[in-house]
Amino acid sequence: MPQPEQPTTRRAARAAGRGRRSTRRRGVALGAVVALLAIAIVAGVAFSGALQRSAAAPAPGSSATDVAPTDAVALPDGAGAGAGSGPATGIPAPAQTSVAAATCGDPAVTAALSGGSDADVLAAFGGAAAFRAAVAGGTAPCVDLSDSRRVWVVVDKKRPLVPVDFEPAEVTAPANMPRTVDGRLQPAASDALTALVAAAAAEGAGSIGLNSAYRSYDVQTRTYNGYVGSMGREQADLQSARPGFSEHQTGLATDITACNSGCAAIESFGGTPQGAWVAANAWRFGFIVRYEDGYTPITGYEWEAWHLRYIGPELAQVYHDGGFHTLEDFFGLPAAPTY
Ligand code: DAL
Ligand code: ZN
Repeated sequence: MPQPEQPTTRRAARAAGRGRRSTRRRGVALGAVVALLAIAIVAGVAFSGALQRSAAAPAPGSSATDVAPTDAVALPDGAGAGAGSGPATGIPAPAQTSVAAATCGDPAVTAALSGGSDADVLAAFGGAAAFRAAVAGGTAPCVDLSDSRRVWVVVDKKRPLVPVDFEPAEVTAPANMPRTVDGRLQPAASDALTALVAAAAAEGAGSIGLNSAYRSYDVQTRTYNGYVGSMGREQADLQSARPGFSEHQTGLATDITACNSGCAAIESFGGTPQGAWVAANAWRFGFIVRYEDGYTPITGYEWEAWHLRYIGPELAQVYHDGGFHTLEDFFGLPAAPTY
């Protein structure tokens, strides 16, 4: 770095001295301004951090019952639960990150939607996070969350399958796991369940078996009517979907169970090591626990630790990383507590 020129006369020296004093005064004043700015910035960051923490969703894997007891919330039909806006349920919305997404006008998006795979569409949007942000933000009207052939289909009490007797193109039986009833899944979900079951055993969680998976409209009719017959319609509606409204009909949902000497009833799954492992790790294989404890005001169903829904590894990672607990919040859809 070049040094400042040295003064060669007294006048020049005095001038230089005045300059140095003036520079020192300016330096002191500048330092004070910088210090004040720094204090203001630190205070601002701390304040905004406190605000963000108070608005943030509970960490993934934490008990949703810590957030809002199911029966403590009165929710009007169709009350909004848009991502990031704070659902009307009193359950905090997950922290949101803004992601620049492609739009429906982008030729790559149009091409992927007309002839590409689900993964192609996610990639065209710039990845699963960008896809979700665009859908939840309302800037991707070309994405149809009612398209039962897509891995991002949302089925709930406000969103029946389309058509109501939809049948998946192909379902196959997952390999290498105990079965208590029967079960076939769409091929990608089937392979993912095989991988999940193998990983649970390898990582010390124990054996997981398959209880149920794809159920046709007719099978769901018999299933739902069985619940109504044994417990009445009101309670049945908290545990079983009406025909045409079950994720099982997509071929993307499965009920799993803990198997030790034998396989237990699915209802005990949440209290088992297998259930704890699945709650923490299902996302790694593209699954989510669809009906979490404490989210009945949004999903319309009681806690089902055993009911997994396949949304693919890319979207499941975003779901997990974002701290989401329902597909309704994930995609900015209204809550669906009732039909
Ligand atoms: N048990 C879930 C809600 C179903 O019937 O699809
Ligand atoms: Zn189920």
